[in-house]
Amino acid sequence: MGILRRSVLEAHSGGGRRWRIPPHADYGLVLILSMLFLGVICQQNGEGGGGGGITSTDQNSLQIVPAARNRVYQRALGKSSVFTCSANVEVPDRLTEFKWWWPDGKAIEPTDTSEGYYDETRVEIMRDEPQTLTLLFTSIQEQDLGKYRCTALYANSQKLETDFTLRAYVPITFEDAPINQYAVKGQDYKVKCRVQADPEPQVDWKKDHRVLNNSDHFVMDKDGVVIRGVTEADEGVYTCRVRVTSMGTVEERHIQVEVHELPVLTSEPEVLEGVEAESITFSCTASGKPAPEYEWVNHRKQDLRVLERHTVDKYKGTLQIDGIKREDAGVYTCTAKNTAGYVTMKSTLNVITKPVIEEFKNITTQVNGNAILQCRASGDPAPSIRFHKDSNREPFSAQGPQHDSRIVVEQRTQGRETTATIRISDVLRTDDGLYNCIASNQRTKTELLGHITVEYPPTFANTPMKEAWSWNGHPANVTCLAEGIPNATISWFIEGSPERPVDGNMANIKQIGLQSLSSLEVQPIDRSLYGFYKCVATNKLGTAEHRVQLKEAREPGPVLEAILTTKTATTITYKIVGPVNDGGLPVKSFVAQYREDRASWDEHKLKSWPVDQQLFTIENLEPQRTYFVRFAAENEVGLGVWSKERPEITPRRSAPESPTIQNEVNGVAITAYPDKFELIWRVPPDNGEKITAFEISYVPVRNLTVDKGNQAEYQWDPVGPKTVEQKALGEPRHTLRNLAPGTYYRVEIVAENSIGKSAPASIIIKTAAVPGGSHSGYDLIKGETPGVDNLPMMIVILVAAVFVILFLVDISCYRINQTGIIWMVSNRMCNKKKSRESLVKPNDGTIQEKRPLNDGSVDPAEKEYEEIGPKTNGNGTNGNGNTPSHIAYTHHPHPKDSEV
Ligand SMILES: *[C@@H]1O[C@H](CO)[C@@H](O)[C@H](O)[C@H]1NC(C)=O
Ligand SMILES: *[C@@H]1O[C@H](CO)[C@@H](O)[C@H](O)[C@H]1NC(C)=O
Ligand SMILES: *[C@@H]1O[C@H](CO)[C@@H](O)[C@H](O)[C@H]1NC(C)=O
Ligand SMILES: *[C@@H]1O[C@H](CO)[C@@H](O)[C@H](O)[C@H]1NC(C)=O
Ligand SMILES: *[C@@H]1O[C@H](CO)[C@@H](O)[C@H](O)[C@H]1NC(C)=O
Repeated sequence: MGILRRSVLEAHSGGGRRWRIPPHADYGLVLILSMLFLGVICQQNGEGGGGGGITSTDQNSLQIVPAARNRVYQRALGKSSVFTCSANVEVPDRLTEFKWWWPDGKAIEPTDTSEGYYDETRVEIMRDEPQTLTLLFTSIQEQDLGKYRCTALYANSQKLETDFTLRAYVPITFEDAPINQYAVKGQDYKVKCRVQADPEPQVDWKKDHRVLNNSDHFVMDKDGVVIRGVTEADEGVYTCRVRVTSMGTVEERHIQVEVHELPVLTSEPEVLEGVEAESITFSCTASGKPAPEYEWVNHRKQDLRVLERHTVDKYKGTLQIDGIKREDAGVYTCTAKNTAGYVTMKSTLNVITKPVIEEFKNITTQVNGNAILQCRASGDPAPSIRFHKDSNREPFSAQGPQHDSRIVVEQRTQGRETTATIRISDVLRTDDGLYNCIASNQRTKTELLGHITVEYPPTFANTPMKEAWSWNGHPANVTCLAEGIPNATISWFIEGSPERPVDGNMANIKQIGLQSLSSLEVQPIDRSLYGFYKCVATNKLGTAEHRVQLKEAREPGPVLEAILTTKTATTITYKIVGPVNDGGLPVKSFVAQYREDRASWDEHKLKSWPVDQQLFTIENLEPQRTYFVRFAAENEVGLGVWSKERPEITPRRSAPESPTIQNEVNGVAITAYPDKFELIWRVPPDNGEKITAFEISYVPVRNLTVDKGNQAEYQWDPVGPKTVEQKALGEPRHTLRNLAPGTYYRVEIVAENSIGKSAPASIIIKTAAVPGGSHSGYDLIKGETPGVDNLPMMIVILVAAVFVILFLVDISCYRINQTGIIWMVSNRMCNKKKSRESLVKPNDGTIQEKRPLNDGSVDPAEKEYEEIGPKTNGNGTNGNGNTPSHIAYTHHPHPKDSEV
């Protein structure tokens, strides 16, 4: 302004005094001039060009918003854009005919639709304010380009107009440039980057941020880079950079190129033999990148992933075929496939069919004849056949344990079929039986049973019965068993003169069974029916006879001898020697009759025992009595004659007999447990007084060898105290506990009644040793003996132990509570030696020490609470000046406070 003013002044001074301007006027002029000058500058800097110019400020006009140089606008095709025609008038309401015009001169007529869209939505016209009219392109197309005009009429008289030119460019567009691309190793690959842009763009390439030059390996093309002979090193990020210099635009695309490899087979084609009805697995593997997936098809080109009985693992490449059928034989093709390509492999399945036995007939032959058993079987491949007898798995062959010169096995094969024969000459009865025909190929076999029946004439070789017994008209069976193939038919004859055949009409004879096993049930009501019966067995090969005698049975003869074995006050026991003559039937039992001497036989008592017993005891007798006893044997027929009676005097009442120890003992009883033993016994006769208890005792013993001349004996010597236990009546068993392991004990048992104790029964036992135990129980007991015996010594030890405990208690009292005897003693000693200070000082010290500890631990916390309390209040009422910053922050939630 200063310069302007000076130049004006100079002009003024230079121009003479014509225009003399008073100082005030001078200033006003300068102001006006400067404003004018500014206006010009503004005019030139503004969107001046063709339209409004100076007039726009003064006159009514139209302007395009946004402003652009020469009102030419470059817009991207396909993009939307908006242009506003803005009227510069005083009274916008006086604007009429406010319109936009297409480049071809047609008005852009607002089609009256309620939605407010116009002209097929290519453009939209909006009048947000009275002085503006907006033209909006939704997507600029090529046909939209050109010069658009905006016109209006102001106050019905003044025409206003402006225009703008819409031009277009094609922005950089990647048309075919996927960001992930896959090249195949060994092949050529073009990294695609096809771009559209107008004006024509320039393209350059980088790989992994390094500039890529045209070379033999990389050949730049318009729409990409060709990589010749791709290697793994070509993997990486390729950057395709596109520039349009004239537009100043640039775009980049980063393309990840992965190098894939074609699948290469790593497994060999297979030729497998599958057995009919079984399963088989083919495998197929290939390398490649990415890892290939697998498919299998059969010779009928069926996709085996979906075919029943077939299982394909598409990741592992296996093909499993289940329940193989004959028609599955053929070629199977595996395809390993990945994005780079595929490879195929052909494997072959041969199906081995299970042999089928076509014929294996049962045959019948005769003893001493010949037998030919034939087995015919087919299969693929033709099977081989062997035989064995069902009872022996060893097959028949020219050698081996089954070798038998009578037996010849032959076999011949024709095509798919094999026929084998087993030929037996001089057939024996033992050749009868089931024979197995086994038809097999390498992998599978089929078996079938056939039968050789060997016929032979009847024989009674296994009939045991030579005689049968009856008595008093009791029915008895006369039986014979005839073996023979075919089964023999049996007829019976009663021997005598004349011999009579048995027929169905006989009153007292009944035939049961007509074949093989037959019995005659005879009721010999009359002596003539005792005698010989003849059994005749017949089949087509011959006849055989067998005789059975039916005899009359009687009571047994007298008992040979009854030997007295033991006698107690209440029992007598005998050993009985049976009768010489059993009367034809076995003796069932022995019977004793006995009576007291004063009584008659009418008042006798009876006792009977089964015959298989060893000893026969008469019980519940009275002591000191005389009994007469006699014996007889008994069989099915009845009681035999009585033996001569014999007197027997029972002893008087006395202590019981010895119990009998029942534990199974063979020398020394070894126990199952290291510490216990269960004694089992039989209750003995009580000798007239009831047994009241059993006394069981045990003592550890040692095996002592005593030399007695040339033969050494050993005896058991006690090595410890004896333990005695009582067992009341009840179960005759008792468990000894707390025994030492691996130790011999002598265990004794005595029965007791009111008269006294029985003689002891004894047993030596040895307890089980504890595994790893270093000493035997015998040592243990030895070690224990002094402890147990030496009572005074034990008392001394006890008293000493009590003293030690008391001393320890006193020491702890002295240390912890300053009481007790030691404390008192030491206290007195100290009192004499040390002054009072030494006693007081530590007391003071402890009190002083305690105080600060308390202050330090409790007071700071209280202080904190005190500080926080009043200051939170202070925030509300008083100023913040005193508040520490951290509290101030925490208690400033309200923005008002911080503003204040
Ligand atoms: C490509 O060529 C330029 C100049 O021609 C050179 O500077 C650059 O090193 C080359 N780049 C490669 C990767 O060879
Ligand atoms: C042969 O005998 C066996 C056993 O008796 C029987 O299981 C089989 O069916 C018979 N075979 C023929 C062909 O009759
Ligand atoms: C004789 O044998 C038949 C058949 O085995 C049987 O039913 C019958 O009871 C027997 N008779 C006698 C007295 O044993
Ligand atoms: C032959 O006898 C046996 C045993 O007695 C019997 O099991 C079988 O059925 C009989 N056979 C015939 C053909 O009667
Ligand atoms: C007792 O000792 C002798 C000799 O030492 C030995 O032969 C005998 O077998 C031992 N008896 C038992 C039951 O251990």
